[in-house]
Amino acid sequence: MKFPKLKSDTILAPMAGVTDVAFRVLCRKYGAGMAVTEMISANALARRNKRTLGMIDIVAAEKPRVIQLFGQNVEMLVKAAKYCEDKCEVLDLNFGCPATKIIKQGAGSALLERPNKIGEIVKAVSSAIKIPVTCKLRLGIRKNNINIVEVAKVCEEAGAAMIAIHARTQKQGYTGKADWSWIKNVKDSLGVPVAGNGDVCSVEDYVRMKKETGCDFVMIGRGVVGNPYLFKQIEQFNKKGSYSERDRKQQIEDFFEYLESAEKYKVGFLHVKFHAQSFTKGFIGASRVRDKIGRAKSFEEIEKVMKTLE
Ligand SMILES: Cc1cc2nc3c(=O)[nH]c(=O)nc-3n(C[C@H](O)[C@H](O)[C@H](O)COP(=O)(O)O)c2cc1C
Repeated sequence: MKFPKLKSDTILAPMAGVTDVAFRVLCRKYGAGMAVTEMISANALARRNKRTLGMIDIVAAEKPRVIQLFGQNVEMLVKAAKYCEDKCEVLDLNFGCPATKIIKQGAGSALLERPNKIGEIVKAVSSAIKIPVTCKLRLGIRKNNINIVEVAKVCEEAGAAMIAIHARTQKQGYTGKADWSWIKNVKDSLGVPVAGNGDVCSVEDYVRMKKETGCDFVMIGRGVVGNPYLFKQIEQFNKKGSYSERDRKQQIEDFFEYLESAEKYKVGFLHVKFHAQSFTKGFIGASRVRDKIGRAKSFEEIEKVMKTLE
């Protein structure tokens, strides 16, 4: 199955505890071509675990909807993918998570050591469902054993419609610099579209990532936390070659828009607290405000604290 045509070449990266439905909808409104859910356990989904079913919080407003699954058991992944098939337009497989509790199960980035297993998973899932399957990869386990080009080729041959690459190794976690030269190597070796990911925090980073790697899409994670306006700036830049700076007023307005949507979609309180704190990034006196948000016990209290910033 072919990867769908997107309205723009930016993608909101999946982030556990961050990319809830209200945040995804806001990023889509600001110009992200696609927004991915946080990773969802295929094993738990296949068993119809109630809490996991509740994590599938996608809505029509974010079409094309993308659910990300992690797992290592082919049968469970196929079952979970079939459950998701009529709820989204794209299914993403996580082969990049470096968290200990995930790699201990042999899932996420642990699979990078087993390209054949990745091929088996991608083939089984992509032939079991009628929507495109994408893969999110890292460079490899460690610096002296980078195998991203091999793994990406395996994914493509097994039926993946798009490959996203976080240009760090498993051992790097989220530290050190992302090495974009590998994104270029993969782009030069594949026929399917490639999304480059890692360390894009500004319009200038976005431009550089596209220029240096030739990637089809730029996937952004931490750079838009507390700052989804970056998607808008990239959109403006692509339309007219310049973009407007985001001021404090805009930053607070963005948060209230998020909050309204969070109430509408019944987003969990911890998510809202997290976002309220991130939207105060860069404000003078922000740490005091963040403390107050940390102690808040309701949406209304958060709203009150944020209003003091207006
Ligand atoms: C808090 C947090 C949660 C994350 N959760 C996921 C996840 O659920 N699935 C996934 O594939 N990657 C996850 N990632 C990795 C991001 O998608 C992305 O690859 C990484 O942050 C690098 O991109 P960036 O430099 O733009 O943040 C997470 C990252 C962070 C910071």
